Amino acid sequence: MNSHRPKPDLTLVNLIHHSLRADAARLAATVTALDPSDQPGRLPAIRAFFDQYRGQLTMHHTHEDELFFPALEARVGASRMHLSELDSQHEALDAAVHAASDRLAILADPAGDFAADRAQAVGALSAMADLLDARLALEEQTALPLTESEMPAAHYKRLEIRARKQTPRPRAQFMIPWLIAPATPSQQQALFRSAPPLRLFYWLNRRRYRHLDQALTPAAVPPVGEHQTWSSQSPRQKALPAEGTLRCRRSCTRPPTPQNRSRPRSRTRRTGSRPSGRRSRPWAARS
Ligand SMILES: [Fe+2]
Repeated sequence: MNSHRPKPDLTLVNLIHHSLRADAARLAATVTALDPSDQPGRLPAIRAFFDQYRGQLTMHHTHEDELFFPALEARVGASRMHLSELDSQHEALDAAVHAASDRLAILADPAGDFAADRAQAVGALSAMADLLDARLALEEQTALPLTESEMPAAHYKRLEIRARKQTPRPRAQFMIPWLIAPATPSQQQALFRSAPPLRLFYWLNRRRYRHLDQALTPAAVPPVGEHQTWSSQSPRQKALPAEGTLRCRRSCTRPPTPQNRSRPRSRTRRTGSRPSGRRSRPWAARS
């Protein structure tokens, strides 16, 4: 291939992989820290977040299976992109996600043994996170580099547009702020440029997303960049300070971005703690 041709912009898939990894770990850490008093209030919010997370994972795999991987296979062949391994990992991951969902449902049963059910739920979520990481790592070692080297940017762009059109609106309402929250400014701009309505869509849906996101603990956020096994377009590692030098802007969740550092807008963003007198249980159901 011509080394001077435009390469596909893989910003979106990189952000999806990042958020999938980060929140698998956060879900496991969140459930680990639960106690029985969380069962009636916080656990339903965690399950609501998990349902959204599961929807994003399912949709991502559907787009890969129906759009991106067939297009890449036509260019490079199945063996070169390790398609059979990707497919088998996909099936194993589906089963793990299903098991994690079942375990969270069992944990919500007030008649159950909370400690035992919590341990089972944590085990299921951890297994899901491990399988997810293996699946994404293989994709990042095979399919994504081949996409970048072998697929014309215009072709990849058309696939992304088709994927976007196939995304149900409720999925997009979670997805856009979910991806934007941890993105660097350059990644945010790249994503907004890819489809101008995304910027407005983000602003319209970010509060609803934050409400869901606050059910999860910030403790499981992986060190910035550590989990990104492949990306030739990842300015995040260069742009951010070392782990632990910033607090996340939403008292939660995401690896900090340069925006956190340069433009504090509220006490929450400056300190990482919620102002006193505000809602103390952000995961509580909205009235
Ligand atoms: Fe992927």
